[in-house]
Amino acid sequence: RSIKSLTTSPSSHVLRRGYASEAVPDRKVAVLGAAGGIGQPLSLLMKLNPLVSNLALYDIANTPGVAADVSHINTRSEVVGYASDAELGKALEGADVVIIPAGVPRKPGMTRDDLFNINAGIVKGLCEAIAKYCPKALVNMISNPVNSTVPIASEVFKKAGTYDPKRLFGVTTLDVVRAKTFYAGKAKVPVAEVNVPVVGGHAGITILPLFSQATPKANLSNEEITALTKRTQDGGTEVVEAKAGKGSATLSMAYAGAIFADACLKGLNGVPDVVECSFVESTVTELPFFASKVRIGKNGVEEVLGLGALSDYEREGLEKLKPELKSSIEKGIKFASQ
Ligand code: NAI
Repeated sequence: RSIKSLTTSPSSHVLRRGYASEAVPDRKVAVLGAAGGIGQPLSLLMKLNPLVSNLALYDIANTPGVAADVSHINTRSEVVGYASDAELGKALEGADVVIIPAGVPRKPGMTRDDLFNINAGIVKGLCEAIAKYCPKALVNMISNPVNSTVPIASEVFKKAGTYDPKRLFGVTTLDVVRAKTFYAGKAKVPVAEVNVPVVGGHAGITILPLFSQATPKANLSNEEITALTKRTQDGGTEVVEAKAGKGSATLSMAYAGAIFADACLKGLNGVPDVVECSFVESTVTELPFFASKVRIGKNGVEEVLGLGALSDYEREGLEKLKPELKSSIEKGIKFASQ
C-alpha cells in the first residue's frame, strides 16, 4: 500500500524510484515440500505475494504439476519446479527465505512427537543442503515436531559452521492465528483487530497463549480463559480428528506460513517494526529455544522480546510446559549430533 501511494504521490520522480527499488528488491523464496497438503496452498499464497521475485518449488513427488499450475498465475514471481534430490541445490541457490513444510502429518491419535522418527531425518537432510547452498537464508521450519526440528536444524548448521541463530525460525503462527480467531469469537470483538501473543513451543501444553495480554480487552471469566487456552492447544488435534486420517491442518497452516514468510520478507526489506511470535534460540527462559514475540529485520531476528506481565494461570502454564519442551529440544539435539 505504501508503494502504491508513493508511486501516485506528487513527490519527485527520482525519490519515488529510489524508494520503490529499495522497497521491492528481488527476493527468492524456496518451498521444500511444495506439493504436499500445506505446500500447495502455501505455494499459491507465496505466488500472490508481490515481495517475491523468484519462487522455487521443491518436492520429491508431484512437483512438475504443482509448479506448472502455479506458474500460470499472472503475478510478479517466476516459478520453477525442482523434482528430485539432484535438483535441491538449484532450488536453494540464492534463496532469501526457505520454507519447510516437508514431512508426514499426524493421523488421529498421534502426537506431534510421533512424527519424530520420519520427519527428523527429512529435516536433517534438507538443512544440510541449506547449509551448503544458501547458508544466509532465513529458514521457516513448519515440519513437526517443531519443538525438535528447530534444534535439529541448529545442530546441522553448527556442524556445517553456518549456524546463525538470527536466521532460524520455528513457525508457530498457526497457534497465534487460532488464538486470535477463538478469542474474537468468545470476546465478541472484531477478529481483524485482535492480537494475542502465543509463547512456549508448538505442541499441546507447550503452546501457551497469553490471553491476559489480548487486545481489544474483554472481561472473560477464568473458565472462559481456560477453555480458550485448551482449544488453542488442541486446535491441531481438532483438525486432525475432523479430517479423520486424511492429514492435519493444511489450509489454515498455509495461511499462517504465508503470513510468517511475508513478515520475514518485510524484515529483510527493512520495513520497521515487524513483530511475530516464533520459536527461536532464546534467553527469555532457561530453555535454549522458546517461542515469543520476535522483531524481524534485515538480518533476521533483531530482538527476542520478553514475555511481559503474566497472569497466575499463565505463570503456572509456563512452569508446566518447561519439562516437556526441554525434553523435546534435547531429543532434537541428540538426534542431530549422533
Ligand atoms: P503432506 O504429507 O501432505 O505433505 C508433505 C510433503 O512433503 C509431500 O508432498 C512429500 O512428498 C514432501 N516430502 C517428503 N519428504 C521430502 C523431502 N525429503 N524433501 C522434500 N519434500 C519432501 O503433509 P502436510 O499436511 O503438508 O504437513 C507437512 C508437515 O507440516 C508435517 O510435518 C506436519 O506435521 C507439519 N505441520 C506443521 C504445522 C505448524 O504449525 N508448524 C501445522 C500443520 C502441519
